[in-house]
Amino acid sequence: MTISIHDRIALASTSTCDSGLAADPWTFDGMPGYGPGASAADPIPDPVARPGQLPVAYQRMSDDELHARIRAAKETLGERVVILGHFYQRDEVVQYADFVGDSFQLANAALTRPEAETIVFCGVHFMAETADILAGADQRVILPNLAAGCSMADMADVDTVEAAWEALREVCGDDDTVPVTYMNSSAALKAFCGRHGGIVCTSSNASTVLEWAFEQGRRVLFFPDQHLGRNTGKAMGVPLEQMPMIDPRKPDLGVDPQVLRDARVLLWPGFCSVHRRFTVEQIENARSRFDGCKVIVHPECPMPVVDAADASGSTDAIRTFVGAAAPGDVIAIGTEINLVNRLAAEHPDKTIFCLDPVVCPCSTMYRIHPGYLAWVLDGLVEGEVRNQVAVPDDVARDARIALERMLAALPKAP
Ligand code: 13P
Ligand code: SF4
Repeated sequence: MTISIHDRIALASTSTCDSGLAADPWTFDGMPGYGPGASAADPIPDPVARPGQLPVAYQRMSDDELHARIRAAKETLGERVVILGHFYQRDEVVQYADFVGDSFQLANAALTRPEAETIVFCGVHFMAETADILAGADQRVILPNLAAGCSMADMADVDTVEAAWEALREVCGDDDTVPVTYMNSSAALKAFCGRHGGIVCTSSNASTVLEWAFEQGRRVLFFPDQHLGRNTGKAMGVPLEQMPMIDPRKPDLGVDPQVLRDARVLLWPGFCSVHRRFTVEQIENARSRFDGCKVIVHPECPMPVVDAADASGSTDAIRTFVGAAAPGDVIAIGTEINLVNRLAAEHPDKTIFCLDPVVCPCSTMYRIHPGYLAWVLDGLVEGEVRNQVAVPDDVARDARIALERMLAALPKAP
């Protein structure tokens, strides 16, 4: 399809959701909240002491110096370090990754380099925790900026899930519920699943995981992402009335007890502030502007958006979809902007753009900047481990059970 110059300019001229995006991420490290790009609806975490903030000397270094330091440190460290990068990382960081992938692929990648002493995870906190749980006893994991969390993961904590679990058992009175946590959750929640016959899923293997869970029990308690749970259950034919959303703060979880007993998938009220920005109207606009425009979205998007799209899938499934499209195709994507922009650059023969005309990156992935990468790698060269993520042994033991089940639940072919 031929795109007019007017449309090309319209695609490129986007605004941003937050003027703070122009600032460097260390400006926000000591502050509560998630920094630029965070949705106004994101709950603000308690202000916590965040160890390992970027020293001023690194904040002041030029880009050239930071990149020279990263290259030199990588060269010195050689096979002793492996760098993993999620698809949502900025290109300045992705270029140094030995593996780039979605969260399922990166969990596996962590296992493929047992000889590396250190795994530097350019992603967010739950990914680094997962790598630490799966890594060998002699390996350690570094998250270059410890303020790189995930607002969705923070929407479910282990105490609240334990309380909801007890409330559920009082109503349902059986052992027929299987806890399933999305990868985007703390190690403590993965351990909870390990202790209670449950499992972890990612967006790429969620349907395989739900099939496994339905073989173990009658219903699933799915947390924290309501959208992934609902979209996956619906695609498997579970009626919406059998997927109520619970309110963990209310008596009987805010759901009629009979509805709880009849439920197949109990949804936690979590969401991703990046993916819930996508709307059906954006899809309609893309299709009205570009005849034949294909739309693919991440399953963290709300159900009406997933239903209206041509396809949905994990970040790697989106990459595969774009790769399989024909030259000249127009593809509108509903996921984080760094991946969309990279796919557009990698496929100049296709027209690829983000469904959301407002640039709103994941504000926590944004926290990893070459400055932090240079600082932690320089530390390793000097024999100092900076920003290590270490999951306590007892938590890691239980979480590993749920993660090993996840690794065995292979994603289905698209
Ligand atoms: P993937 O598992 O698709 O990489 O997604 C991770 C994520 O955080 C999406 O928001
Ligand atoms: Fe978390 Fe959403 Fe960012 Fe993914 S895109 S890491 S779910 S806040």
